[in-house]
Amino acid sequence: MDVNKEDDSPYYDGWANIYDKESKAKGYQGPNVAARALGRMLSGNRKEKVILDFGGGTGLVGEELKKEGFEKMDILDSSDKMLEFARQRRVYQNVITAEVKGHNSTPLAGDSYDAVLGVAVFCTVGPSFACFDIKEMIRLTKPGGILLVILRTETLYSHLFRDKLLPLFEHLQSEGTWKQLERSQFKYMYGVEGQLFVYQIL
Ligand SMILES: C[S@@+](CC[C@H](N)C(=O)[O-])C[C@H]1O[C@@H](n2cnc3c(N)ncnc32)[C@H](O)[C@@H]1O
Repeated sequence: MDVNKEDDSPYYDGWANIYDKESKAKGYQGPNVAARALGRMLSGNRKEKVILDFGGGTGLVGEELKKEGFEKMDILDSSDKMLEFARQRRVYQNVITAEVKGHNSTPLAGDSYDAVLGVAVFCTVGPSFACFDIKEMIRLTKPGGILLVILRTETLYSHLFRDKLLPLFEHLQSEGTWKQLERSQFKYMYGVEGQLFVYQIL
């Protein structure tokens, strides 16, 4: 798949100062829905589960995971400024600055995490975060682990992703890379629908 790559971090650095306030004002539910879903899907002792918040930004997801009783969370993002806010929350064990540029692009070992969450990382505002980066999320997830994706419904059906993301998700299922555990629609923010996908890596 040919997708132009460019560094979006200046864009996200500029957004960081107002990100939490804006998310609250807009009634953003992605982090909350992600954490609840993971709580339903991950069996066993939550305190022992190692989770990666992939493209975690200011750490809103980590905050919600903590409320669900998870304790071992790492966050990865390309924006230093976003991660500055995430660090201040003191919910993450490791704060990793890395730009995802496809398969094998992050400095993390494969099969490291019980769950990898990508919440609002497939965005039309930052064109470089392309759908093949799902392969990097898969690489980092342990066999039997959970991979969770949340995005806006309008993003899923936008020109950038319309013919790419769903066919890729289906292909990954038919080739036996993962098994879909859940797909549902929810109120992403005021007046905006969102999609939740939960997969188990096989
Ligand atoms: C819309 S924010 C979502 C943040 C968080 N997951 C949430 O739900 O609040 C998207 C995040 O993805 C990060 N991002 C975008 N492209 C990236 C890339 N190529 N590599 C790593 N992080 C990236 C941005 O820096 C930003 O923090």
